[in-house]
Amino acid sequence: MTTIAGDKPPAVHSARADTSPGDQPDDSYSISRREFLYYIWGASIVMLLGASAATIVWFLLPRFRAGEFGGDFFIPGSQLPPLGSAPADNPQGRFWFSNTEAGVAALYKVCTHLGCLFKWVGTNGRFECPCHGSKFRADGIYIEGPAPRSLDRFELSAVLQDGSEVAADEYGMLHLEEPSQVVQYVVRTGQKIQGPPAGREYT
Ligand code: FES
Repeated sequence: MTTIAGDKPPAVHSARADTSPGDQPDDSYSISRREFLYYIWGASIVMLLGASAATIVWFLLPRFRAGEFGGDFFIPGSQLPPLGSAPADNPQGRFWFSNTEAGVAALYKVCTHLGCLFKWVGTNGRFECPCHGSKFRADGIYIEGPAPRSLDRFELSAVLQDGSEVAADEYGMLHLEEPSQVVQYVVRTGQKIQGPPAGREYT
């Protein structure tokens, strides 16, 4: 093929020759982006799991304020009923605050048979359930009737003048040598203790 002088043959470039260094695929950039997406994905999973765990804990943890049923009740030491007198009714805490020879107790107001609300019958000096006739002593011990156990009670402690705290025993009975030293009683209505089986005393 003849070529006219001065004319240059058309340049023939391969595909590779047309690719400038700046157009070369940047492997390091691709990997970084992939890693970045992995980090985002991982962080999203961690945040999702964290939010789920926080929600579960939020719903599982009881959140009751002092003075509402399920929370703590603070009773001034001066409000302890005299030994052997009628138990004091605490409607908000749903317990009877009772002071007997067996100790001080915060007795849950629900009958251990089928859940009726029993009452204190002063003339008989005992608790009596109107539903099926179960009867209990002032210290919560079962006397008679279909109830399977003595009255349930709440965890109880006493804060003394010197700042120390005396806790009730395994039956929820608080034994005090000097009740006049008590500044306040703490009844934890979120912590119920089952009464002993019918026919059994505290000892
Ligand atoms: S519910 Fe109290 S005796 Fe049955």
